[in-house]
Amino acid sequence: MIFLERGSVKMEFITYEAEGQIGIITINRPKALNALNSAVLEELDSVLDSIDLKIVRALILTGAGDKSFVAGADIAEMSTLTKAEGEAFGKKGNDVFRKLETFPIPVIAAVNGFALGGGCEISMSCDIRICSDNAMFGQPEVGLGITPGFGGTQRLARIVGVGMAKQMIYTARNIKADEALRIGLVNAVYSQEELLPAAKKMASGIAKNAPIAVRNCKKAINDGLQTDMDKAIVIEEKLFGGCFETHDQKEGMSAFLEKRKEKNFINE
Ligand code: CAA
Repeated sequence: MIFLERGSVKMEFITYEAEGQIGIITINRPKALNALNSAVLEELDSVLDSIDLKIVRALILTGAGDKSFVAGADIAEMSTLTKAEGEAFGKKGNDVFRKLETFPIPVIAAVNGFALGGGCEISMSCDIRICSDNAMFGQPEVGLGITPGFGGTQRLARIVGVGMAKQMIYTARNIKADEALRIGLVNAVYSQEELLPAAKKMASGIAKNAPIAVRNCKKAINDGLQTDMDKAIVIEEKLFGGCFETHDQKEGMSAFLEKRKEKNFINE
C-alpha cells in the first residue's frame, strides 16, 4: 500500500482519494472489467481500515473506466474451487461487504457500467446506489452453475422485494439503468459524465450535516431493519438520545434558534 499526500492511498487494484470530507474508493482492474478476485477483496478490506474517520464523513465507491463498475466475482479464480474453497471465497466477499455495509459513515455506490454478480452485490452493500445510463445490473450466477455468493440472495430481496429478486436471480437476466431505477435498485440515473459529480454533490450534502447524527441514522436504519418494530424503536431511542449533549447537537439547535445559516459541526 502506498500512502500519498492528504490521506490518499494507491494499491495494485484499489485507489483511494481523500477530497476534504469525502473519500472516493475506485476499483481498478481493467483487464477483467474490475472483477473481484481475492486480491481485490483483500485490498478493499485494507483500504477501509486506512480511512481517517475523524475527517471523512461520506464515501463514494466506483469502478475505473467508463464500461464497468464491477463485472462480478472473478470467474477464472472460482472455476477450480472445491466446495470448501467456494464457501471460504463466499465468506471472504461477505466479510468485506458487511464491513462496507456497517461502515460507520454513509457509502454511495456510483455505478458506472456493468454491475453483475458480485458487482451488483457490492453496490447493494452500499447505503445508496446511483448509476450512469450505460449501467447494467444482474445476478447471472445460475447461468454459471452457482448461486449469488456475496449476499445477493439476501440483499436484492430486501431492496427490490422478494418477487422481483427471485425473478432476476432465477432468470439471470440483466437489467438496464432505467429498469433498475423503476424497481428501486438505484435512486437516480445520470449521464456517464455527470455520475461522479452527482455522487460528490450528494456526498457533500451528507458531509455538511452533523456527523454523529448521520452515523447514528445509518446504524438505526441498519440495525432496526434486522429486528421487530418494538425492538427497532428502542434502537432508535438510544441512538437519538446518544446525539444529545454533543457539541453538534447544541450547535445545530442554537443555529436554528438564532436564525443562523452557518453551522460549525465538528464531529463531537
Ligand atoms: N471474472 C473474470 N474475468 C472477467 C469477468 C469476471 N467476472 N468479467 C469479465 N472478465 C474478463 C473477460 O474474461 C475478458 O478477459 P480477456 O480479455 O482476458 O478475455 C475481459 O474481462 C473483458 O471481458 P469481455 O471480453 O467478456 O467483455 P464484453 O464487453 O464482451 O462483455 C460482460 C462484458 C458482459 C460484463 C462479460 O465480460 C461478462 O459476462 N462477464 C461476466 C459477468 C458475470 O457473470 N458476473 C458474475 C460472476 S459470478 C459472481 O459474481 C458470484 C458471486 O456472487 C460471488
